[in-house]
Amino acid sequence: MADRRIIILGCGGFVGSHLTERLLADGRFEIHGFDTSDTKCSHLLGDKNFHFTKSYVDASNTEKMLGGILGDAEAIYSLAAVCNPAQYVANPVFTIKSNFIHAYSLVDLCTQHGAWLIHTSTCEVYGRTVASYLPDNDYSNPDLFEQREDETPLVMGPTVNQRWTYAAAKALFERYIYANHTENGLPFTIIRPYNWFGPRMDFIPGRDGEGVPRVMACFMKALLDDQPLQLVDGGKAWRTITYIGDAVDALSKMLDVPKKAKNTFFNIGNRANEVTIEELAHLMRDVYAEITGDDAYKSHPIEYVSGEKFYGPGYEDCDRRVCDVSRAERLLDWKAEVPLRDTLRNTMAHFHDLYGQK
Ligand code: UGA
Repeated sequence: MADRRIIILGCGGFVGSHLTERLLADGRFEIHGFDTSDTKCSHLLGDKNFHFTKSYVDASNTEKMLGGILGDAEAIYSLAAVCNPAQYVANPVFTIKSNFIHAYSLVDLCTQHGAWLIHTSTCEVYGRTVASYLPDNDYSNPDLFEQREDETPLVMGPTVNQRWTYAAAKALFERYIYANHTENGLPFTIIRPYNWFGPRMDFIPGRDGEGVPRVMACFMKALLDDQPLQLVDGGKAWRTITYIGDAVDALSKMLDVPKKAKNTFFNIGNRANEVTIEELAHLMRDVYAEITGDDAYKSHPIEYVSGEKFYGPGYEDCDRRVCDVSRAERLLDWKAEVPLRDTLRNTMAHFHDLYGQK
């Protein structure tokens, strides 16, 4: 019987749609989902345990939207966010408003009700690694680049580099949650995702959205439209890529071990899947050749572009994101399992099926 009420803010987004799908399939949960669009969760709307409200929950309406259902909810997942670097530089005010100002009243409301707030923050709060400031970017000492939830300093660039609007807003939001925990007893969990990839991620410009999405969708568009893959600043940055199925395992497992999951921070990533963006470009070409059966994609053109040209002035990159996930492994009995190639294959096959059939 579905008698455990869960609220999901952002159920129509990439992560929210996968989490909603997972919890509904489990059968024990009644989901109250909120989003501005139901496009990514439309296949779930007929489920009797899914109650969808089309709405942007912001500071002015949080109480009205959630006040009546929060008391009986076991947990509230907050997943709604603006999370594309192109937006941080082009729309810094909106980035700060949506990631902090529109959202802080949710923390107040959860505090009032003693409701468990499970918030997806970002690995980007760590900013750049300390190692990146050393001569020759010396990564020989893991203490200077490995990211540990309660130990690693948050290193962001100067205010004029607007890349950090998002990380700064997210970091302040984390601090607001943590302050309400220590001062007012708010039960919380903060998750720091590491480049979660999967079907329904972002949008493909010209197909189902406009603007500059994150790297997977940028490369996918280039492959679909026979344009060069663009490597920003040489593609030297590193990312640890995590399959969305592994990520929602971690998110959903928290509900069954609340005592262990509450009042702490979790890095959720797959450190075995670390690549440079240049390596990612090569791998995506190879995987797309496999999916289409067309070997020409293996040598699809790549071109180089500066960060300033691609994103505009004020772009600065996170150099490396190596996550310590030992806390999630220990407390949630969780481990990311899906290798990089399978992650890319599942993700790219989804977009190929939608848009790649000539
Ligand atoms: C973004 C968000 O800012 C993070 O908060 C979020 O946690 C993260 O995505 C995520 O998906 O988890 P980032 O990884 O920098 O961070 O975003 P991407 O747009 O995916 O860029 C990754 C790298 O690829 C960057 O080095 C970027 O410069 C590069 N890139 C991007 C290219 O070389 N070519 C492109 O066409 C697009």
